[in-house]
Amino acid sequence: MTNRMDEVRRRRTFAIISHPDAGKTTLTEKLLLYGGAIHLAGAVKGRRARRHATSDWMDMEQERGISVTSSVLQFEYEGFEVNLLDTPGHQDFSEDTYRTMLAADSAVMLLDNRKGVEEQTRKLFRVCRMRRLPIVTFVNKCDRPGADPLELLDDVQEDLGIQCYPVTWPVMEGFDCVGVYDRRDGMIHRFERTGDHGQTKVPVTTVSIDDPGATEVLSEEALEGLREQVELLELAGTEYDEEAFQRGELTPTFFGSALLNFGVEPFLQYFLEHAPPPQPRDAETGTVDPSGEEFSGFVFKIQANMDPNHRDRIAFVRICSGRYEPGMTVKNVRTGEDVRLSAARQFMAQEREQVEEAVPGDVVGIHDRGSLRIGDTLSENGVRFGDIPRFSPEHFARVRVPDPLRRKHLDKGLRQLSEEGAVQVFYPAKRGGSPNPLVGAVGQLQFDVLVHRLDTEYNVDAELDGLSYDRARWVVGDDDEIEEAARGYGKTLVYDSKDRPLILFESEFALNNTERDHPDLEFHEVSP
Ligand code: G4P
Repeated sequence: MTNRMDEVRRRRTFAIISHPDAGKTTLTEKLLLYGGAIHLAGAVKGRRARRHATSDWMDMEQERGISVTSSVLQFEYEGFEVNLLDTPGHQDFSEDTYRTMLAADSAVMLLDNRKGVEEQTRKLFRVCRMRRLPIVTFVNKCDRPGADPLELLDDVQEDLGIQCYPVTWPVMEGFDCVGVYDRRDGMIHRFERTGDHGQTKVPVTTVSIDDPGATEVLSEEALEGLREQVELLELAGTEYDEEAFQRGELTPTFFGSALLNFGVEPFLQYFLEHAPPPQPRDAETGTVDPSGEEFSGFVFKIQANMDPNHRDRIAFVRICSGRYEPGMTVKNVRTGEDVRLSAARQFMAQEREQVEEAVPGDVVGIHDRGSLRIGDTLSENGVRFGDIPRFSPEHFARVRVPDPLRRKHLDKGLRQLSEEGAVQVFYPAKRGGSPNPLVGAVGQLQFDVLVHRLDTEYNVDAELDGLSYDRARWVVGDDDEIEEAARGYGKTLVYDSKDRPLILFESEFALNNTERDHPDLEFHEVSP
């Protein structure tokens, strides 16, 4: 049997945060290519299909059964065991994406060299910040002209309040990026464009910036330009501070092109060496160390099978201590029930059939017949992790059922689907005080799924009336003052399933005014 802590130390569990189209799919493919998990990029299945996810998402789920395969990619790279957690992009964007960050130990922030920080990156970054996750940045698409790199980094710093430390720097010949310069060892990596659209590893020539022979690799003019830029970076730039990186306050930054494989390898090597292995985690019962012998983990995502003939679900569990072995029995700490862990088939990269063993840092997908909820702790020793916070929705709708006899089914469906994390449910008055609950979601697609599932699983023909609110805050403070704050145009007061009050707002303006007028109240974007 392998030494468990050796195994844990070589785990790197992370997620990529980016805005749609920044190149996440492409970069993921290249990590697999460089990791040796695939030999020809372009093999990640369903890539094109995923892009058209809005309309045929449900059909796709049915075709593929449960898309477990896309939830965690596990592959080995030079002695590291990499767990890349999937954060669905685009139309699928939902609370799942946020919760996935809670299961990660670090993140890669992927930026488009023309666009810098975009909306979805900003949102995901806030979750990383909440957890103080170390973040490494990759500025992508450098094979084509983009913003001035210095200006781009300034914008990132300003926008996100994180310091950027460029570890590599683009090497320009005229308007073309032909390589990257690695500041750690002063080496220039010149790439060749292979013309195969990056299907295979890129041929690269390396030479020291101080080597007189460097002019054979790079034109005199380009070399001069690079030297000037490097000097400028040294003079004006940030100092590298490993601790600040580990605290999530400084982000080592790389430039490259996922498409043409420029700069991917130095980035990956750095990332794996510096990103932290699984760390101790805070739990309500004290700190849980990965070296602990007994199993503990928490459910951060539940994936329902969209096929009504297969009602089982997969609960994704991030392991925090101990060791997973198939068939072991642990306790669901919330209910006190014993749960026998049988892992689902998963992990596309190596097409493993069954997970034989998993250690802290790993994620296992467990078959569940409906007893698990988001945030549940599974443990052998009574450890209990805190609740997983809810993230404030941006889409709201009122649910109606034309047939009053289906009310009870609707309530049951909404309760279960909200426990599963599929949607959030709100009531206009405390505890069950209204026949017309509201639902909230981070992504519009969650609503389509909700209606579909209420129909297929609960036989409820529900209708959703979209509401014009687009942001919400949990409010903590005096009850009367909360009611007072919620009065007025463009806002309303609701309660979540735990009876915590939230105010929904129709605009940033309404939110800002309310916050300003009620300094005694606390407004939380994430459930307190
Ligand atoms: P996503 O998962 O973040 O949404 O992005 P994805 O990888 O699908 O990439 C979005 C588009 O950007 C794709 O182009 C992709 O080829 C392109 N792209 C990704 N990385 C790079 C890069 O390093 N350089 C350049 N120039 N383009 C890049 P598309 O035209 O939408 O699709 P396709 O026809 O190329 O597949």
